Amino acid sequence: MVGRTDSAGITEIGVGLISVGWMGKLHSRAYQAIPLVDPELKIRPRLIHAADTAADRADYARDVLGYAKGSTDYRAVLADPDVDIVSICAPNLLHKEIGIAAAQAGKPFWIEKPVGRDAADTAAVAAAAQTAGVATSIGYNYRGAPAVERARQLIANGDLGRITNVRAVFFNGYASEPNGALSWRFKKDLAGSGALGDLLSHVVDLVQYVLGPITDVSGLLSTIHKQRPILPMGQATHFAVIENGELGEVENDDYAAALVRFSADSPAAGAVGTLEASRVIVGPQCGLGFEIYGTEGSVRWNFEQMNELHLAIGRTGPNQGYTTILGNSAQGDYAAFQPGPGNSMGYDDLKVIEARKFLVAVTGGERRNSTIEEALADANVITAIASSAVDGQWHKVPEVPGATFGHDSGV
Ligand SMILES: NC(=O)c1ccc[n+]([C@@H]2O[C@H](COP(=O)([O-])OP(=O)(O)OC[C@H]3O[C@@H](n4cnc5c(N)ncnc54)[C@H](O)[C@@H]3O)[C@@H](O)[C@H]2O)c1
Repeated sequence: MVGRTDSAGITEIGVGLISVGWMGKLHSRAYQAIPLVDPELKIRPRLIHAADTAADRADYARDVLGYAKGSTDYRAVLADPDVDIVSICAPNLLHKEIGIAAAQAGKPFWIEKPVGRDAADTAAVAAAAQTAGVATSIGYNYRGAPAVERARQLIANGDLGRITNVRAVFFNGYASEPNGALSWRFKKDLAGSGALGDLLSHVVDLVQYVLGPITDVSGLLSTIHKQRPILPMGQATHFAVIENGELGEVENDDYAAALVRFSADSPAAGAVGTLEASRVIVGPQCGLGFEIYGTEGSVRWNFEQMNELHLAIGRTGPNQGYTTILGNSAQGDYAAFQPGPGNSMGYDDLKVIEARKFLVAVTGGERRNSTIEEALADANVITAIASSAVDGQWHKVPEVPGATFGHDSGV
């Protein structure tokens, strides 16, 4: 049993946090929101111990986020007996080391995507979690958008008929400035792949969650800005723009694409599709979206209009074509946030949904969370796309036992 349950039936769970950056802050806020968003859950997370190698971030965790203790070594969090569960929000390079250490310490963990730099890193974390028997959740937050859950349900119900094809993209211009600094994200040994692992992994997870496993891929990678100004160590952030600086090589992809086939044994049996991601695109800002087509209808969604689901059912009649449906209580976890329809939710709420699923899994409830096996299935797709981009051949994606994306439980 994780945590301590009092006489009123409230279970208190001690939270540890490793790395107090953007994601570390959002995980912390998500835990704090749980008793308000879902009092029926009767779980009260307590922020116990946070660590970041940057001492000012550890101080921020204690003084602003509300952790009882702050450290500069993540091992102190894992060794803390009051920490029951851990959020791992470190850069990709550290996921393998810290994920394995958390498993070996017997702490269930919620780790940010893509879980390491490549499938080998993800597989190592998965093996450690399986050996230790600890619950895991992965930061693939877009799955939890209520409109996405509704699209998934429509497809599972057969309301779109037989699924024929999908177009899914993540167009994000965070590196569209050619003089943007050559940060760790552009280095193979630090980040792994570029847009492929960072952005297309979200697309791969989303379509596998909504439609089922991908079995075959043909990939294509392209680097648009081949050189960038070298970032002097410790002098600026990833978002720094450096004019007339010395240039260094970009080592990974700015754009990634794949043709994919879905498993015959999935809600999208026989369907095919195209997946694309770019980190240098000009125009879209956080354009993660999909269009899914079936013989009786279609559905489309884009995170930039997160609260809108576009649905077309039927080929003829006065209402043919797309209708826009705003968020409402029939969609996923919407009702936990808002009592009435049409009230917009945001990115941070997706992290609260993730926290809730993680806490339910940790305390032995119904499994709706993403798992390390699913992260490995996503990583296998990404690796197969990278291999295909090199040799120009179609590649089979290795199956991962237990990576069901919830399609086994009918949810
Ligand atoms: N789910 C999403 O939508 C999403 C969005 C952004 C980032 N991410 C993922 O979250 C992770 C973190 O990204 P971020 O944007 O929060 O990064 P960030 O740069 O904001 O924060 C990273 C933090 O890690 C700390 N750190 C570095 N080395 C450390 C070590 N050895 N021990 C402890 N802390 C250390 C840094 O000091 C920094 O505070 C990445 O894996 C990234 O891919 C996911």
